[in-house]
Amino acid sequence: MKGLILSGGYGTRLRPITYSQQKQLIPVANKPILFYAIEDVIEAGAKEIGIIVGPNKEQVMETVRSVDWNADIDFIYQGEPKGLAHTILIAKNFLDDEFVMYLGDNILREGIAEHANKFKANNYDASIMLTEVENPQEFGVADINEDGTIKRLVEKPKDPPSNLALVGIYFFKLAILEACKSIKPSWRDELEITDAIQWLIEKGYEVGWTKVEDWWKDTGKPDDIFEANRLILDDLAHEIRGVVKGGEIRGRVSIDTGTIVNEKSVIKGPALIGRDCLIRDSYIGPYTSIGNNCEILNSEVEDSVVMDGAKLINAGNIVDSMIGRGAVIEKNKRLPKGSKFIIGDNSWVRI
Ligand code: G1P
Repeated sequence: MKGLILSGGYGTRLRPITYSQQKQLIPVANKPILFYAIEDVIEAGAKEIGIIVGPNKEQVMETVRSVDWNADIDFIYQGEPKGLAHTILIAKNFLDDEFVMYLGDNILREGIAEHANKFKANNYDASIMLTEVENPQEFGVADINEDGTIKRLVEKPKDPPSNLALVGIYFFKLAILEACKSIKPSWRDELEITDAIQWLIEKGYEVGWTKVEDWWKDTGKPDDIFEANRLILDDLAHEIRGVVKGGEIRGRVSIDTGTIVNEKSVIKGPALIGRDCLIRDSYIGPYTSIGNNCEILNSEVEDSVVMDGAKLINAGNIVDSMIGRGAVIEKNKRLPKGSKFIIGDNSWVRI
């Protein structure tokens, strides 16, 4: 089975972060979201993976190539985001008889190996993964017959037939190619994968489904990134490789090499701190991930994602925040005392 992982699109709901960073590279617990997808696909047995890249293709390629994966990875360029079914048409020369398509902004705890096994064992033409959600109108939704077969799939319905959402991970045989060629663009002018699978059902192909029992997140918005970060940190192992000169470390905390925590700092887990950071006279609260080369000086930060190279200096108490790479938040000590900002387009500040 081959793997097709999607890492294109503009990520508009995650601006301004996505002006400079491809959405699927945003770190969750200090690891690009995309890497969780690659790991899952490899664990499910894929030896050849095609990654669909779009606007920031160089960045995605460089980041993926920085790791020695146990699989061959190819990159396939999608010039315009014309929908998930469109990516299958673009990738057709790469695809094999059986493949898994994995949206690179999806993350789930249980991996996909069991789901892949059921797809193969039942010899389905396609198999989808479903999970119960509270807001089905924001996803593709499945209507299930009493005998457990799929009656119909509908994309972002105003009046959802169930609370079973389609997870962004799909198993296919090559029949899906014909389906993607046959469907018409939706109201959002995209070739919807949900419509392509619905086409398979209507033509009498065997479409199965499995249920995701553990947590799953589609990380489209900042709140989703925070939640995914919290969920991953819930499984964090306690590991101190940096230098803790004293202070107070409570709960499960991971501190990487080269990082220094001074005696007046307090760190309450679960919290993750990357390499070569300086934490001085500061409080790092639960559910915080701090990237590499950060400086947190005389500041408090909690329930936040702080990316590589960011600095918080006399910054007060920061909560529920996403701080981009190299960003600096510092108390203004000069006159006039007013707040000063140099922030990019679509940033938002709540003071
Ligand atoms: C896409 C699919 C949708 C699915 C979702 C899962 O939505 O179209 O059916 O439920 O991924 O992440 P999109 O993220 O394109 O709005």
